[in-house]
Amino acid sequence: MRAVRSNEVFNPGAFPKHTYVIRKSLDTRFTYEYRLEQALHTVGFLTSIIGPSKTGKTVLVEKVVGIDKRVLFSGSDFKNANDFWEVVAKKVGLSIEGDLINTNTTQGTGVADNIETRSTTTKQKFFTGKDKVIEYFKQNNKVLVLDDFHYAPEEIQYDIAYQLKDAIRLELKAIVISLPHRTDDAIRKNPDLSGRLNLISIEPWKIEELREIATTGFDKLGIKISDDIVTNLAQESLTSPQLMQSICFNLSFYLNIDENEEIDSITDKSVLKDAYNLITVNLPYSEVVKKLEAGPNPRGQKRKTYALTTGENIDIYSLLIKAIAEDPPITSISLDEIKRRTDLLIGSNDKPDRNKVKNTIEQAFSIIKASDAFYQVFEWKDNQIYILEPLFLFYLRWGTHI
Ligand SMILES: Nc1ncnc2c1ncn2[C@@H]1O[C@H](COP(=O)(O)OP(=O)(O)O)[C@@H](O)[C@H]1O
Ligand SMILES: [Mg+2]
Repeated sequence: MRAVRSNEVFNPGAFPKHTYVIRKSLDTRFTYEYRLEQALHTVGFLTSIIGPSKTGKTVLVEKVVGIDKRVLFSGSDFKNANDFWEVVAKKVGLSIEGDLINTNTTQGTGVADNIETRSTTTKQKFFTGKDKVIEYFKQNNKVLVLDDFHYAPEEIQYDIAYQLKDAIRLELKAIVISLPHRTDDAIRKNPDLSGRLNLISIEPWKIEELREIATTGFDKLGIKISDDIVTNLAQESLTSPQLMQSICFNLSFYLNIDENEEIDSITDKSVLKDAYNLITVNLPYSEVVKKLEAGPNPRGQKRKTYALTTGENIDIYSLLIKAIAEDPPITSISLDEIKRRTDLLIGSNDKPDRNKVKNTIEQAFSIIKASDAFYQVFEWKDNQIYILEPLFLFYLRWGTHI
């Protein structure tokens, strides 16, 4: 038996205690962990962490604060809540019921009125309850962590910001985590909070940082892995540490590393293709691909097809999907790069021109824009495709559908 099992070493679903990578924040000499420590030590300030999905925001807080000191909420915990402090008190097992002061505030009619009314009501009703909660957090050295703040309805976000503004002044330690872009305007653009915020923006992962997950992990398993394989794994992870964890685990599983102790190195690149393919079998993107390949309704007309170097004949929408999936694996692809890739895929002289390619991307984007959130796998802006979901691109590259 090896000392540890591969699914303990590589953990795409939770805190990776064997393969946690400490990263430096962009353009600074400081690590994210150090910056979060500093932020938490600044009395009277609120800490706001933003970063793209699955870049390690939740695990960063778990690392620095620890699960025993962290009191964790999700934005969605406040969906149907009338009172912020009531939800918080309940979680830590405090009763604030006895402290209710009954007030009969009439509800306003407009949206703005409602927010105003709610704030005043809350302030009067739970004034002592709130103090009790804050006192509890201070005495027990707890940190209030509000994860996935973007899941809280917008009007509630402003109410929460209002509550937190007061609470941090009373020295409550609080961290708000959310996705970038507009989703935390209630915090970052809130004039009441300006000058009282510590801002930490988590940047996309670099190849070097992703590599560290594999080198540390395989070392723990007692396995040597060649440099070029590690680089390949990191490139295929498409900036996602979660995908890197998943790739490393599945590679270990595919090679049967836990059971076969004779394996002491990974140097054969030819196994990667099948290991990658094994990951895609569980990914839920076949519907998305189908929808994109179908394109807009052709209204009874048959679409023109293009002859690929492989001998296949496919229409422009399938061609676009293929082009996105081509090498090199990158998450931001320019129109010119897509055009270059389609030219390479097509064997004959009959290639779609730049405008035709552009128009196809625009059509495909409007199809996903009009669909559910799940379909929002890329964005098209300033002649550039931005892949929003690395797993989707991974699926396109290694799934068997193609
Ligand atoms: N610093 C890190 N070192 C190693 N793996 C990490 C790190 N940060 C994130 N991961 C991997 O990515 C996964 C997702 O991280 P998570 O914190 O849940 O992302 P977010 O909260 O930003 O959506 C983790 O479960 C872990 O497998
Ligand atoms: Mg998270």
